[in-house]
Amino acid sequence: MKILVTGGCGFIGSNFIRYFLKSYPDYSMINVDKLTYAGNIENLSDLSHSPLYYFIRGDIADAPRIEELISKGVEAIVNFAAESHVDRSIEDPSAFIKTNVFGTFVLLEAVRKVFQKQPIRFLHVSTDEVYGSLGETGAFTEETPLAPNSPYAASKTAADMLVRAYHHTYGIPALITRCSNNYGPYQFPEKLIPLMVSNAIEDKELPIYGDGMHVRDWIYVEDHCRALDVVLHRGKEGEIYNIGGQSEKPNLTVAKTILDRLGKAHSLIRFVTDRPGHDRRYAIDFSKIERELGWKPSVSFEEGISLTVEWYQAHREWWKKIKTGEYLDYYNRMYKDR
Ligand code: NAD
Ligand code: TYD
Repeated sequence: MKILVTGGCGFIGSNFIRYFLKSYPDYSMINVDKLTYAGNIENLSDLSHSPLYYFIRGDIADAPRIEELISKGVEAIVNFAAESHVDRSIEDPSAFIKTNVFGTFVLLEAVRKVFQKQPIRFLHVSTDEVYGSLGETGAFTEETPLAPNSPYAASKTAADMLVRAYHHTYGIPALITRCSNNYGPYQFPEKLIPLMVSNAIEDKELPIYGDGMHVRDWIYVEDHCRALDVVLHRGKEGEIYNIGGQSEKPNLTVAKTILDRLGKAHSLIRFVTDRPGHDRRYAIDFSKIERELGWKPSVSFEEGISLTVEWYQAHREWWKKIKTGEYLDYYNRMYKDR
């Protein structure tokens, strides 16, 4: 199978490409990535000599380029390309609309033009954040009404709606997955877990928003990749599949667990001003994918966080190189005087 992956130089995309090439040695993967601040070619440097992996620097919003790539016998598209950080979307939503909404539209148009002549599937990688925020109980199902709260979540919701409409109106073979918060190797250190781990290693403060009792459901990235595998191969076109990690944790618990794993004092935690519009709780009901496709998460939070802490300890050079230049400007804007 020839798969076009978009955004494969980011966190989940790079894990997905490595997982797929290992699991399916006869597949080939084309990775089209714009290499924004979050895209890192080094995430896949171990594959640079593989004859089954091709990297192309490109923008999913570039229609002629995307159409040309798809015309070369691509049988599946897995769309990871996105602006993915909520705090950056609050600062400036424009790139989120360009890539997450318009970029997805370009991909859908390209699929619309070929799907009757060429066997192709479009797997759109979305998020549980499209459902908004939960109270103290309950979990998102695929039927939960969409109620995005951040510009990031709104842009992902708009993209989901386009995918839905293109399947409904034109019959394009599309599927949507909505996953909870991922963590693991190669995650950009602006997100909670890699930020906390790398700061703790360096004895820097761990900034916790508000009271730290906001709850996320954490999934180890390889479990997400396994879920995308079953949906891509066996999912029903036109369907949505929720993916969750069965690991709901308040942010404060996550920070303390990381400090304990590293043998550092809890006094490194600093409570900072809350994020505007901060969603209180996410929880995922993944019974549909479990029932229909036989998938469930296999890595516990305790296991996953140990693997992740070990990876960041062993790959200091990787994140130290990131934590310079633009990152430091961002970090100071985000956390100084907060
Ligand atoms: P990331 O920010 O680490 O990576 C995004 C990648 O997309 C980067 O390599 C970037 O260079 C690339 N990109 C951005 N704009 C592009 C464009 N216009 N054209 C081509 N490439 C472009 O993100 P991630 O955490 O790996 O998330 C991947 C996808 O999974 C996103 O769609 C995100 O919404 C979704 N998702 C993420 C999570 C999570 O916890 N990280 C959870 C659920 C869903
Ligand atoms: P994040 O990793 O940005 O993912 P998302 O906002 O998409 O869920 O944040 C996860 C949680 O951690 C969220 O409740 C916000 C919180 N958070 C902090 O408390 N401090 C931080 O420095 C960051 C980046 C996030």
